[in-house]
Amino acid sequence: MTIQLKAKQVSMRFKDRVLFHVPDLTIGPNAAIYLKGDNGVGKTTLLKILAGLLKPTSGEIDPSSPRFMSCLFGGAGRKDVIYLHQSPYLFDGTVYQNVVYGIKHKRLDAQDKRAEVISALRSVGLETLADEHVSVLSGGEKQRVAMARAWVLKPSILLMDEPSASLDHESIERLVYMAQDLLTHGSSIVITSHQTNALTKLCRKQWWIKDCTLIESPLLQIIDKKQTDQESDYAASNSD
Ligand SMILES: Nc1ncnc2c1ncn2[C@@H]1O[C@H](COP(=O)(O)OP(=O)(O)OP(=O)(O)O)[C@@H](O)[C@H]1O
Ligand SMILES: [Mg+2]
Repeated sequence: MTIQLKAKQVSMRFKDRVLFHVPDLTIGPNAAIYLKGDNGVGKTTLLKILAGLLKPTSGEIDPSSPRFMSCLFGGAGRKDVIYLHQSPYLFDGTVYQNVVYGIKHKRLDAQDKRAEVISALRSVGLETLADEHVSVLSGGEKQRVAMARAWVLKPSILLMDEPSASLDHESIERLVYMAQDLLTHGSSIVITSHQTNALTKLCRKQWWIKDCTLIESPLLQIIDKKQTDQESDYAASNSD
């Protein structure tokens, strides 16, 4: 399912400090957005507001229906919108149990559920660790379990908060595969990251939190402009 999320006049304030004011914002359908900004500008806060996990000081998010995966992703969430934590929280249990939890109530027989979970674990390269307790996993492996858990739910919107921070090149490529798969099926993704990489390269739009507001720009044009500039430089150097 693909949905659109709209935010209007959303402000966040902590005591007297205004973190940001965003007049207008839309995600989807089928958008890939790179959210950037310095430490502490409010990227995580904005994603949690969009997921319905945090209430803004003022403003509205539409659709507003609170529900969904409340235990899994902490607090009341917005239906079909999943927030992937900057520091993923996993349950006391095995890798398999953590991933299957999200589809526990899905109308599938046990065999199909197992197949989905194993397919997700294979995509993040962790199928051989399915029966291990999560406490033995490395930070990067935990991040990949969290991604597998989000992916099996096939969310309409996946909000990924610094998903690649503790990942090596190969693990980032695995996340790219999963994010691309969601995009192919009509979902939207928002990715925060302090570095550009293969994951942020999927994005076609940029949100930049700066000076307490959000500036939106199409990423394609930025890339195209760079290419155009390079092409003009090349043409100029060859016309001499
Ligand atoms: N519950 C809270 N009470 C007071 N201040 C808070 C609260 N939650 C967040 N803040 C402050 O809001 C600011 C934005 O935090 P946030 O985690 O959204 O930043 P960020 O852009 O995600 O930063 P980073 O790049 O380091 O992840 C920070 O200065 C933080 O201390
Ligand atoms: Mg953050």
